[in-house]
Amino acid sequence: MPRPKVYVTRIIPPPGLEILKEYCEVELHNSIYPPSREELLKKVRDKDGLLCLLTDKIDSELMDNAPNLRIISTFSVGYDHIDVDEATKRGIYVTNTPGVLTEAVADLTWALLLAVARRIVEADKYIRAGKWKVSWYPTMMLGTEVYGKILGIIGMGRIGKAVAIRAKGFNMKIIYYDVKRLSPEEEKELNAEYMSLEEVLKNADFVSIHVPLTKETYHMIGEKELRMMKSTAYLINTARGPIVDEKALVKALKEKWIAGAALDVFEKEPIDPNNPLLEFDNIVVVPHIGSATMETRSKMSELSAKNLVMVLKGEMPISLVNPEVMKVRPLDKVKMI
Ligand code: GLV
Repeated sequence: MPRPKVYVTRIIPPPGLEILKEYCEVELHNSIYPPSREELLKKVRDKDGLLCLLTDKIDSELMDNAPNLRIISTFSVGYDHIDVDEATKRGIYVTNTPGVLTEAVADLTWALLLAVARRIVEADKYIRAGKWKVSWYPTMMLGTEVYGKILGIIGMGRIGKAVAIRAKGFNMKIIYYDVKRLSPEEEKELNAEYMSLEEVLKNADFVSIHVPLTKETYHMIGEKELRMMKSTAYLINTARGPIVDEKALVKALKEKWIAGAALDVFEKEPIDPNNPLLEFDNIVVVPHIGSATMETRSKMSELSAKNLVMVLKGEMPISLVNPEVMKVRPLDKVKMI
């Protein structure tokens, strides 16, 4: 049997490429920039496997263009960029990288929460701009206390739980909303109280978002929801930009419905430099770096490559997004290696 042909849409850390090369003919888009749509469509035409990123739109047009495609392995936990139903219909396996990035994203969530509450970015800019003229005075750069406050978690999955565990050290009360309630044992272990979305928004001092982007969660936090939050509360988003209605957030910051926000993700990435969000001092912004540690990116590389190879070997991959696909095309029919 010929070696499977695989397209990798970007430079990824080494372990993944090595795994792929052992079993497949790998064509790499050797760049940090994404391939153009045209190039992507052209490159997948003869491929059996695709290793893509969250910035590549994998829709029915692409799949129609790739008649041999058996596996789409995304180098991300989120898969809102992939039309999973269309993939399933065509018998294409879809895999992602859950688990390996949980701790890195939870760490970044906390970095953002602390940064916005204690005005770290503003304070850093203040020194660099030569504005630190008075050594110390009691009203300089006052932020908000984190210790003992109420943390509202929207989406209590792997990452939401990892964020909650970290909150223990800050003696925070945890309230959460999710479409699925945790078991009483898990709630006890995390010391988390289940509430409606509205109650979480109304009561939390910090609201942190950890839901996937779906049709249901698009603009889940809009004007109505932001108005429910305390005027002293902060919004933290390390999930997906479009979960928050950015226009409403700008209004909320302008009219001081909330105290500030810390964002790793945006409705449009990269963010437009003229985006009005960037005019506020009480927000902290970072460029979608939730999982960006050397350790985590290396694990994501390994897991995405392993998933891809496992499917082409006819084995159950580690993290299959669409198990229904097995009815459309069983694993022994996908096997090429
Ligand atoms: C990053 O945003 C991911 O989904 O892995």
